[in-house]
Amino acid sequence: MAGGAGQGGLAGAYALDGQDACLRLYADWAQSYDAGFAAAMEYRLPAHVAAAFLAAGPPAGPVLDVGAGTGLCAAALRAQGFAGPIDGVDLSQEMLDVAATKGVYRALYRADVTRPLNLPEGYAGVVSAGTFTSGHVGPEALDPILDCTRPGACLVLSVNLRVWEGGGFADALAARADRIEAPQMIDVAIYGPAAAQADPAHAADRARILILRRRG
Ligand SMILES: C[S@@+](CC[C@H](N)C(=O)[O-])C[C@H]1O[C@@H](n2cnc3c(N)ncnc32)[C@H](O)[C@@H]1O
Repeated sequence: MAGGAGQGGLAGAYALDGQDACLRLYADWAQSYDAGFAAAMEYRLPAHVAAAFLAAGPPAGPVLDVGAGTGLCAAALRAQGFAGPIDGVDLSQEMLDVAATKGVYRALYRADVTRPLNLPEGYAGVVSAGTFTSGHVGPEALDPILDCTRPGACLVLSVNLRVWEGGGFADALAARADRIEAPQMIDVAIYGPAAAQADPAHAADRARILILRRRG
């Protein structure tokens, strides 16, 4: 498909203009996302987020995967040795249906993370890969996510660098200095070398991984 590896595609994903469009795109993309996009692009962001999360210190408590999609970030946590409970939340039931087949989650919830979340846990950790990006989720999700964590929780969230400035992330973090300690940041390549062939327009995309600690 033009503009991205697999049905759906990055060009369509970055141009989403509302949740109905998002739901349609991921309903079409869910079945081919892993093989047609993640594999073809050597999608590395879930592994980067998992590595940063585990390097910050694995939490003694459950972890929430925000915008869990087909489960690649939880699968990366498992592959890197994390054995604790992981729950996932996503807007798209079709993406969650694929995630459920992987056997890496304790529970999966369909919800909009830009709205107050009514989840049954206070999470000790949060991971998120690929969800804070163009046409998806902005900093308005920070408070709903923080609200379902425990004091001291570690949150490791990727933000696509295409939206870092325009999306107001730096200001949003500064405005929450009473809730979160000063963030650490690591900039990473989202894709591997194969992306140059699969989708040259996005092959060099980078993300900023935020490592946040909720204040006690
Ligand atoms: C690019 S995919 C990333 C999925 C997975 N984390 C990964 O790295 O492969 C973005 C995901 O964000 C989800 N999403 C978009 N807007 C959302 C919202 N408001 N609330 C919850 N999930 C959302 C989409 O349904 C999709 O599964």
